[in-house]
Amino acid sequence: VYIAAFAVSAYACSFTRAGGKPFNPILGETYECLRPDKGFRFIAEQVSHHPPVSTCHCESKNYTFWQDVRWKNKFWGKSMEIVPMGFTHLELPGFGDRYEWSKVTSCIHNILSGQRWIEHYGEMSIKHSTTMGDVSHCKVTFLKSRSGGLNANEVEGMVTDSDGRVIHSLFGKWSEALYLGKPPSVTCIWRANPMPEDHEQYYGFTQFATELNELEEGLKPLLPLTDTRFRPDQRLLEEGDIAGAEEQKERIEVLQRERRRVLQENSMTHSPRFFKRAEDDSWVSNGTYWDLRKDPGFSKQEFPVLW
Ligand SMILES: *[C@@H]1O[C@H](CO)[C@@H](O)[C@H](O)[C@H]1NC(C)=O
Ligand SMILES: *[C@@H]1O[C@H](CO)[C@@H](O)[C@H](O)[C@H]1NC(C)=O
Repeated sequence: VYIAAFAVSAYACSFTRAGGKPFNPILGETYECLRPDKGFRFIAEQVSHHPPVSTCHCESKNYTFWQDVRWKNKFWGKSMEIVPMGFTHLELPGFGDRYEWSKVTSCIHNILSGQRWIEHYGEMSIKHSTTMGDVSHCKVTFLKSRSGGLNANEVEGMVTDSDGRVIHSLFGKWSEALYLGKPPSVTCIWRANPMPEDHEQYYGFTQFATELNELEEGLKPLLPLTDTRFRPDQRLLEEGDIAGAEEQKERIEVLQRERRRVLQENSMTHSPRFFKRAEDDSWVSNGTYWDLRKDPGFSKQEFPVLW
């Protein structure tokens, strides 16, 4: 039930982001998020450009989380569907539990004109296993909204045991909260954090998202030069220089195309720095990032010039 809430909660931040375009990471771009206060450390890398694949790995004393984000876009004229591929993985080593789930389809409506809004629909299937085999399964259905906004953002879920018996039911909205049980006896198990008051001026970002681009002086010498925080276009956009950001973005894209051409001319392929391909074709951390960061330190290593 809690893992389902965690998986659903990942969609909440998209509610205020329908109007904004995401930043496309550059091939080889990396990102780290070291949060001792929250007990985790996270790394991400853009490992492929065509098709775009972003991969991440997060570890804590109590869990390991990893996923690669790949998708197919389908244009429908007025809307665009984003169909994700690949799985999200979570392990709780203290309990020997392992969870694996897929994502649902996202759709951005009114991409060309009018008020943009985002919808997620389809089935998320969470498989729970231990070293002993399959334990339980949770199916969460993201409902498609009907005309007039009925069912907007609604989800409903069901946890079944290994014999297929329903042991828990869930319902709520991915944009707001999730409840365990059936009315009238329900318990709230997750509620989205309130948005910062001025989020509309800040690209609809949550408090957490606005903190991610922060570049403290002490952090600068520790990061690889490929870290997102060094991206000049993103920095300028944060500082409100939209024209400057656009200029830098174009320059960075030209550089990326040049690197691609050099690789092609030499019949070489790009090799990711901190991730490798697993047997099942998913991307996993190669486990070197934090060790290299400590010794010899990224300032003593070579990185491609991405911007
Ligand atoms: C790990 O789990 C324990 C028990 O639930 C909790 O007290 C602790 O804060 C957790 N530690 C981290 C780093 O999340
Ligand atoms: C992991 O990546 C590092 C840095 O790119 C590389 O030197 C190393 O050979 C890789 N290690 C493994 C175990 O794949």
